Amino acid sequence: MRRILFLHGPNLNLLGEREPEIYGHLTLPQVNDQIAALAAKCEVEPIFFQSNHEGQLIDFLQEYRHAVVGLVINPAALTHYSYALRDAIAAVNLPTVEVHLSDIHRREAFRQVSVIRDVCLTQISGLGVESYLRGLEVVLGFLAQQELRKLLNEKTNIDEAYRACVKILKRDFPKYNWVGIYLVEGNELVVHNYIGAPTPHTRIPIGQGICGAAVAEEETIIVADVNADPRYLSCSIETKSEIVVPIQGRRIYGEIDIDSYTPNAFHEHDQKMLEGMAKDLAEFLDANM
Ligand code: SME
Repeated sequence: MRRILFLHGPNLNLLGEREPEIYGHLTLPQVNDQIAALAAKCEVEPIFFQSNHEGQLIDFLQEYRHAVVGLVINPAALTHYSYALRDAIAAVNLPTVEVHLSDIHRREAFRQVSVIRDVCLTQISGLGVESYLRGLEVVLGFLAQQELRKLLNEKTNIDEAYRACVKILKRDFPKYNWVGIYLVEGNELVVHNYIGAPTPHTRIPIGQGICGAAVAEEETIIVADVNADPRYLSCSIETKSEIVVPIQGRRIYGEIDIDSYTPNAFHEHDQKMLEGMAKDLAEFLDANM
């Protein structure tokens, strides 16, 4: 199973009793339990380590550098001054996300600078334990993109690439309950392949539904609450939110469509990853079709 490292910096061992108005009421074991629950659904084995000592964090990261495929780190106060930790993260060259429970940008002036941020994929701050969960999703998103790109470089045929794309997304993102690809055929979108509940919408006229709107408008559409959007064509009564990302190169070839049974399931990092994958598919199509 793929392993991902979760490192917690100084004072995070006191979570729950330490300034709960800033850091929340969860203890560190409770935070780790929530991370472990999501990781299990993503088929990831999490490895946790907390230390109050800069050198111990660096030693642990070095020791595990070949055993893991990614890193989610809450460097705590080290964020703002530890060049040594920054160099260690750069040295191990793992896809890394910097996370913070509190919103460090709304706090003291000394917390406004991160010396860690630019050796990471991104920084996620202010969402409590959700910061870690999104951090895990960003690492998995990076790996998913890498996996698809590798396949495309091996000159897979495009049908296989579409299928692989759906499979990777369904495997790694448990909140993606229905994942499919629709292809443009004339004035219609035709479902190419999907994983999830059978859909009655195997053909959708361009301009209709969220799917048809994304192609007509040539941009990603995120619907946080499908029941509040009059365009929405229902595939399952369990669906609460949806994202549709056009596969657009010289023309629009199709789209990636994802439904979630969780309301408001799709965020900026989902959009960024899916647009990255759609772009790679489109470049392959431009070059080969
Ligand atoms: N919900 C889509 C239709 C496709 S199913 O969700 C798979 C839409 O509104 O276009």
